[in-house]
Amino acid sequence: MIMEQKKLKYPADWISRKKEGTPLSVITAYDATMAKLAALSSVDALLVGDSLGMAVQGNRSTLPVTMDEMIYHTKLVRRGAPDSFIIGDLPSGSYQTSEETGLRNAFRFMKEAGASAVKAEGSDVNTLRIIERLVKSGVPVMGHIGLLPQSYLNLGGYKIQGRSELDSKRLLEAARELESAGVFSMVLEYIVTDVAKEITDTISVPTIGIGSGIHTSGQVLVWNDALGMDPDFKGKHARRFADLDKTIIEALNRFNSEVKSRIFPGKENSFN
Ligand code: KIV
Repeated sequence: MIMEQKKLKYPADWISRKKEGTPLSVITAYDATMAKLAALSSVDALLVGDSLGMAVQGNRSTLPVTMDEMIYHTKLVRRGAPDSFIIGDLPSGSYQTSEETGLRNAFRFMKEAGASAVKAEGSDVNTLRIIERLVKSGVPVMGHIGLLPQSYLNLGGYKIQGRSELDSKRLLEAARELESAGVFSMVLEYIVTDVAKEITDTISVPTIGIGSGIHTSGQVLVWNDALGMDPDFKGKHARRFADLDKTIIEALNRFNSEVKSRIFPGKENSFN
């Protein structure tokens, strides 16, 4: 039996979960309806990922997503889940142009949108410096290494990371640097299982995996993938915990047919 967990409130709670050995579940959310449902579930935390560029906006990558759009969606999610731990994802270009811009945008998430923390992709020197300054300024930061969707062009596509010895060493080093910079957790995306395990065993902060095997401290999935909302989605890393695409199409067909046959609206839906 899965015990009901105390809700995550502070970054330190994430680290306690890793110490206890209790896996963390994180789901993306992009609006108040999703957030309300997630808050009623036992999922641990919500990520307003820049994956919204693909899942909600229908783009082919996350690159077009702007900071203003992220703030808008994070506000919606906070409205639907007033007490949840919500992470705002710094989108492409929101922290790479200068340290000051990165700090300003991270603070926008906290002040304007009510985020509990921010997430930044990468572990290059500039990103590490921004993360360090944010943490010292009181902003909790989640790191993200492995496949970096914002850098998919330079990575040559959405490829599995950590296959060579050199690459696995680079990832381990990146994880250590992020830990030293003060992140309270980090996403490991599309990293081979053994390397994700080694990273998880080496650092003290929890690793949240996506396509990185079973040994990470937790898992994150994109809402649309986990709930089966896209009939065309084929990602091997995800599991469909429901087939909402079928449920929605069937419901819409029923609506259409009941309108056409004048079954809807019934007396109970009408006013005298
Ligand atoms: O944007 C996103 O949703 C993410 C997760 C897939 C980790 O970064």
